[in-house]
Amino acid sequence: MKSILAFLFLLFVINSGKAQQHAEYTPPDDPAVQQKLAQWQDLKFGLFMHWGPYSEWGVVESWSLCPEDEGWTQRKGPYGADYNTYKTAYENLQTTFNPTHFDPDKWVRAAKDAGMKYVVFTTKHHDGFSMFDTKQTDYKVTSPKTAFSTNPKSNVAKEIFNSFRKENFMIGAYFSKPDWHSPYYWWPYFPPKDRNVNYDPAKYPERWQQFKDFTYNQLQELMTGYGKIDILWMDGGWVRPLRKADSALAHEMGNRYNQDIDMPKIAKMARANQPGLIMVDRAVPGAYENYTTPEQQVPAAPLSYPWESCITMGNSWSYVPGDKYKSSQQIVQLLVKIVSRGGNLLMNIGPGPDGDWDPEAYKRLADIGKWIKVNGEGIYASKAIAPYSDGDIFFTQTNGGSNEYAFLLGNENGLILPPVVSIKPGNARKVQQLTLLGVKQKLKWKQDGDVINVTIPAALQNNSGLAYAAGFKIKY
Ligand code: GLC
Repeated sequence: MKSILAFLFLLFVINSGKAQQHAEYTPPDDPAVQQKLAQWQDLKFGLFMHWGPYSEWGVVESWSLCPEDEGWTQRKGPYGADYNTYKTAYENLQTTFNPTHFDPDKWVRAAKDAGMKYVVFTTKHHDGFSMFDTKQTDYKVTSPKTAFSTNPKSNVAKEIFNSFRKENFMIGAYFSKPDWHSPYYWWPYFPPKDRNVNYDPAKYPERWQQFKDFTYNQLQELMTGYGKIDILWMDGGWVRPLRKADSALAHEMGNRYNQDIDMPKIAKMARANQPGLIMVDRAVPGAYENYTTPEQQVPAAPLSYPWESCITMGNSWSYVPGDKYKSSQQIVQLLVKIVSRGGNLLMNIGPGPDGDWDPEAYKRLADIGKWIKVNGEGIYASKAIAPYSDGDIFFTQTNGGSNEYAFLLGNENGLILPPVVSIKPGNARKVQQLTLLGVKQKLKWKQDGDVINVTIPAALQNNSGLAYAAGFKIKY
C-alpha cells in the first residue's frame, strides 16, 4: 500500500513538474527577435485599441456571440432574447459601421504626447470582422456591404499602422485566432456550443485544413501588405495543439479538440516577411510566446522573462458610452508599479462608433504626458532593481545602475510629501547626488547606512506642482 502511495506521489511530483515546465518561458533563439524584444522592453508604455462594429452598440467586443453563460457574454438590447436573431442583428452592424470622424493622426498626437511608444490594434477580434482589407472574407470593413467602405480611409488597420509608424511607434497587430464568423471554425451545420471550434477537427480534417489556410492567408496579408509590423499579438489561446499537460486549462475553456493551426509554418512565413517579428501566441507557452501578457493585473513581483500588462483605461476593452475611466493618478501609478517590476504597460482605449475616443481619454493622456515629461527618464529603458518597492516607494534604475529612481506614490488625497522622505534602496552604495525630478531647488539629504533621509521644505510638501508620483533621482 505504502509503495503504491509513494508511487502515486512520485507521479504527482513528476506531473506537476511538467506542468510547470510548460508554464515556463522559452527565449527566442533568433538574434533579430532577441534584439527587437530588448528594444520593445525599453518602450514601457503602449496603446491598445479594441474597435469594430460592436462599438456601435457599445457592448462587449465579440463575446455576446459566444454561447457560454458568463458575466461578459450576456446579450443585451432589443435582440438579446433570442440567440439567432441577435447574431443576425450583430452581423448586420457591418452595414451601418461608419466612423466618419476617424482620424488616426489625432490619436497619434495624443498618444505620443502621453509618452506612449507602441500601438497594438485589433485587426480582427473573435467575431471575425476584419478591420483590414482581407481577400478571404466579405465580413470586413472594406466590403461594399460596410457603410465606411466608400471612405478613402476605410482600410483602418492600414491607416492606423501608417499614422503611428510615421511617429516611430512600434506597430502591433492583434489578431484573434478563433473566428466566429468563419464557416471553417463555426461550421453552420452545427450550432456553436461554446468559444471553441464546433466540430471535431480530427473527424473533419478537410474543413479544419480550410480553417488553417484561411488563417494563414489572412496573416500573410497582414505580414505583407501593411508595412513594417513589429509585434503579432495573437489572442484566443484555446486555438492550439491539445497537449496532455495543458488539459487543465483546455478543460476550463470547454475544449476537447486539438486546434492546431501550425504555428511553426505561420511563424516562418511571418518572419520571412517581417524579420525580427515579436510573436505573442498568447497563453500558449513555448517558442511563439515571446512575451507574456497578464491581463487587467500587475504581477506581484518581477517576472524572469519579458512581459506586458494589458489594462483598460475604462472598464471595458470596447467602447461603452459613459464608461468610467481610471484617474490619471491611477494610470501613472500602474505604469510606475509595472515598470518597477520590469514590465510594460499596454493601456487600452476603445474608439467609439463615430471613429473617435471619449474626451475623457484625451484628458487622461494629457495629464500623463505632463507627468512623463518630468519623470520619463526614470521610466524608459529602465530596469527593475531589488527591492523593487518599499511601502509607497517604487524603484527603477538606468545607465547600468549608476542612476536609481525612487517614485513615491500619492494616495487618495493626492501627492502630499511628508517633511522627511525615507528612501531605502536596499543597497549600501554611496550616494553622490540626490534630486527631485521637476524641482530646481536643492534638497537636504543624509545617507545613514541603507537609508537616505530627504528633508522636504514646507513649500514643497503641498501644492508643489508635482502630481501622482514624485520621482527622486539618486546618483551613485
Ligand atoms: C480579454 C477579453 C478579450 C480581449 C482581451 C484583451 O481576454 O475577453 O475580448 O481581447 O482580454 O487582452
